[in-house]
Amino acid sequence: MSAKVQTIYICDECGLETPRWQGKCPGCGNWNTLVENQRQEKPKAGIGATKSLLPATKLSRLNELDAGLEIRRDTGLGEMNRVLGGGAVDGSVCLLSGDPGIGKSTLLLQMCKTLCKNQTVLYIAGEESPRQIKLRAERLGLEGERLIIAPETDIEQVIACVEQTSPDLVIVDSIQTINCAGVSSSAGSVSQVRECTGFLIRMAKEREIPVFVVGHVNKDGGIAGPKVLEHMVDVVLYFEGERHSSYRILRAVKNRYGSTNEIGVFEMTDGGLSDVENPSLTLLSGRPKNVSGTCVACVMEGTRPILAEVQALVGKTGFGTPRRMSTGFDLNRAALLIAVLEKRGGFFFGNLDAYLNIVGGLKLEEPGADLPVVLALLSNLLDKPVPENLAAFGEVGLAGEVRAAAGARQRVSECVRLGFHKLVLPKASLNTAGEQPNDVELIPLTNISDAMRIFR
Ligand code: TYD
Ligand code: MG
Repeated sequence: MSAKVQTIYICDECGLETPRWQGKCPGCGNWNTLVENQRQEKPKAGIGATKSLLPATKLSRLNELDAGLEIRRDTGLGEMNRVLGGGAVDGSVCLLSGDPGIGKSTLLLQMCKTLCKNQTVLYIAGEESPRQIKLRAERLGLEGERLIIAPETDIEQVIACVEQTSPDLVIVDSIQTINCAGVSSSAGSVSQVRECTGFLIRMAKEREIPVFVVGHVNKDGGIAGPKVLEHMVDVVLYFEGERHSSYRILRAVKNRYGSTNEIGVFEMTDGGLSDVENPSLTLLSGRPKNVSGTCVACVMEGTRPILAEVQALVGKTGFGTPRRMSTGFDLNRAALLIAVLEKRGGFFFGNLDAYLNIVGGLKLEEPGADLPVVLALLSNLLDKPVPENLAAFGEVGLAGEVRAAAGARQRVSECVRLGFHKLVLPKASLNTAGEQPNDVELIPLTNISDAMRIFR
């Protein structure tokens, strides 16, 4: 039976396949994203027709399987190791994604600095020329005797390069520039990205080496290409930060070999990225004194407590409906907290604009950030500063209750370590907070209506 070629249209954004071209993708609603593709239709045969040709599947019982040793390679960057869960695992594929110019290539090149001391790294450069990489490496102080650069964009050539050099680690910068001759669409399209990633994953598993892949983000901030790419790889990392700030945050959104809660904090300097081992101290530097509308929050990022400054500004609205704006804190959550303050606390925000900002480009996603947000809003509303050495954490419920937050002991000791001697915390967390030095005052709250105690 001869294979029939079928024309299908695949959406560049969401990967939806349709038999007909349409201006608007029925899957994701984006315009002009459907691209023509050819697909070989396999000859149809009934079940059983090919049965005798298939090899028997190798079945094993879980207890008989030998997991072997999980080998982790030290990347040389403490924060990177933390996010990966202890280092790069052999046989894993890690997708690193982020805005253009945020420092993805710099981060990976810097990793080579330590790795290349005793291991060979193959760097597939689809974006920059070897000369450009050399210039950057010089700036980063990279010797690079064991760093092999391959300016290559064809996936089969990439695999050939890997075979030729037998590296201990492969870096592909970026997946959107790599193409596969067997797929008709242009490089960077969904089917190309999917196909090339498939090749890389097979290669990583066969050779048992870690592979790092750079992926671009689309205009909404998601990884370009279908969600399927995130499903395929073992680890997905996002590298983010504000364009004008030198701090960068590395966050795992998926990790088959570790926790996804950990974040890594880096600072971009003239000599490349450097680990920020004490992020709280850096995030709090330059905090205004004796100003209303700011409160220090203590949130847990994975196993590590981090202190960040929450700022709020409340003012009379110039329009009919008041504006609510928030950076670094979920806007819906902010609206909910304002509603709770109105209904349960009796504070009126109805004709007031409210703006929230988390300093340093950090995103507070943990429920423990609710209470500091409430305190910052109240402080600005009442125009009374929160005491300078006060930090807070706790979740706020719809009834206005302040609920227990996990990790009270670590949070309290981090606050004390950084010189915060007044801690506002949920009453339910009081007995898990542990023993404190005499000069530390714990202020337990059960309801946000008690929050006024702080401003007196
Ligand atoms: P790059 O790694 O090229 O970004 P990406 O690969 O994510 O697109 O990062 C480039 C930016 O990093 C550029 O704006 C300059 C900055 N940078 C420094 O500030 N110091 C350095 O030592 C290096 C190498 C880059
Ligand atoms: Mg780059």
